[in-house]
Amino acid sequence: MSSTTAKACANIALIKYWGKRNEELMLPTKSSLSVSLESLKTSTKVSFNYEDRLSINGCNIQGDAFTKFITFLNKFRKKFEIDKHFAVESFNNFPTAAGLASSSSSFAALAQALNNLCAVNLDTKGLSILARLGSGSASRSVYGGFVVWHKGLLHDGSDCFAQQLFTKDHWPEFRIIVVILQSAQKKISSSSGMQISVATSKFYNDWVAHSELRLNDMIEAIKQKNLANVGALAELDCLEMHQAMQDSTPAINYFNDKTVAVMDMIKKLRISGVQCYFTIDAGPNVKIITDTSNQNSVLDKLKTVDGIEQIIVSKIA
Ligand code: PMV
Repeated sequence: MSSTTAKACANIALIKYWGKRNEELMLPTKSSLSVSLESLKTSTKVSFNYEDRLSINGCNIQGDAFTKFITFLNKFRKKFEIDKHFAVESFNNFPTAAGLASSSSSFAALAQALNNLCAVNLDTKGLSILARLGSGSASRSVYGGFVVWHKGLLHDGSDCFAQQLFTKDHWPEFRIIVVILQSAQKKISSSSGMQISVATSKFYNDWVAHSELRLNDMIEAIKQKNLANVGALAELDCLEMHQAMQDSTPAINYFNDKTVAVMDMIKKLRISGVQCYFTIDAGPNVKIITDTSNQNSVLDKLKTVDGIEQIIVSKIA
């Protein structure tokens, strides 16, 4: 085999990951939980080559994104004693690096393609561990459905992997509406932001403690398909994570005016009886948690908000 293609979907965390306890092995300070999105896909073709190359959506990549890619390839080569170089062509059907979790689907697809091309024969747990070495959230994108990423306790990271909790069939009515307010690259990478928060944020340890407790409540709420509880827990977790970011020195703020306007719109819509909740990652875009019976009311209201670049409605992958 001289080339192979693999696909993965991005995931959105409902209980967030923000901060590592080991930078090299990408071990998180806490467990997290996500939902994989059918409409946010990455397709990655990998071939053997005389040197390492990366293109995303047809553009040759250099700079920080290339360095992150090479760091991952070096970890892969060392772990499996592989002495090869690779040409990687990746295609995202959504904006890259705008807090839309493109690294989750990119490294999950890349891990799968490398596994196939080099015949490493990893099972899904092994794939999750490999994808984690590229980007923490990628450990969750090797699965569809609702996924938990266990923080693990061991120093070598062998118990730090993701696991599917429920498939998409558990909750076919569940929807995420992705509201793209700015498709340009984010100001501060998640890796740098995490390091700053862990080292300086006064609220960081409180958020970790609260969030760890919320994880079991979230699993129970998903099990019961209780949208109000899922939404309320996800919103609180997101707001506390952003509080921990903003309490850092220097303060990290991923929101812009439009982010705040969409958050306000969702809160007002909820008071009027529409079930909808928000979550936001390391960028200004907003993801709305809702279901099929509330989706059209949310979409109608979004038409009244200025400055939205794109709206993507997604089912669970
Ligand atoms: O995997 P990274 O390094 O892109 O970090 C993702 C961090 C958040 O998206 C903010 C939260 C999460 O759990 O996905």
